[in-house]
Amino acid sequence: MGRDDRPGPAGEGSLTDVSFRPLHRDDLPRVAAWQSAPRVARWWCEPSDLASVEARYRPSIEGRDPTEVLVVEVDGRPAGLFQRYLHADHPDWDRAIGIPAAAGIDYYLGEDDLVGRGIGSRAVASFARAALVRYPEAEVVVAAPQQANVASWRALEKAGFTRVRAGRLDSDDPADAGPAYVYVLRRADAGPAPASGAC
Ligand SMILES: CC(C)(COP(=O)(O)OP(=O)(O)OC[C@H]1O[C@@H](n2cnc3c(N)ncnc32)[C@H](O)[C@@H]1OP(=O)(O)O)[C@@H](O)C(=O)NCCC(=O)NCCS
Repeated sequence: MGRDDRPGPAGEGSLTDVSFRPLHRDDLPRVAAWQSAPRVARWWCEPSDLASVEARYRPSIEGRDPTEVLVVEVDGRPAGLFQRYLHADHPDWDRAIGIPAAAGIDYYLGEDDLVGRGIGSRAVASFARAALVRYPEAEVVVAAPQQANVASWRALEKAGFTRVRAGRLDSDDPADAGPAYVYVLRRADAGPAPASGAC
């Protein structure tokens, strides 16, 4: 799995290790708990009962869904969920965003004591660059947070993303209900891949 051992920004502590591994079936109760927390549920907008979580994520775990779902670990502790996909595999979303050769990412930190410490920004930076390694056909990584979700779009900016659009998206996903910002990280601007390559 990819690792990012660089020291974090001031306030985070100096030795935090951020890494990613594939989601396992054993993680699903933890995922349900994460997604039931109001802080996550407000923006993730997916059912958090175990049956729904299993139905949602088992296809990815079993390789039947092209969306790849990973657990971010902080010093070896499961801390949240990150997912990546090619827009081409999701034609409605691809149309709504309208950026060619794009890969998408979505993410949350599920552990309350780990938010607001710079970990999300570092994890997004690492994950986005790993996505460009994972998907050589992608020229850009895209994320589209709600404008009201300041922590998310600030984390993207700190991870090197650029805002390219503001407004409502043509999406029926409840997570896209309000005005959004579209952020991109272009391959040309991404810099080197994480130290150990794709996760
Ligand atoms: C989005 C998320 C991953 C960011 O991770 P994080 O570790 O909390 O973020 P960081 O500590 O790296 O902070 C990123 C920036 O957001 C700011 N921030 C953090 N929490 C904030 C909050 N509640 N309100 C406003 N700004 C906030 C930080 O101050 C920092 O900006 P700054 O450097 O200008 O001060 C995390 O907050 C989260 O999981 N949120 C819930 C789920 C979610 O929103 N997912 C994204 C859906 S698009």
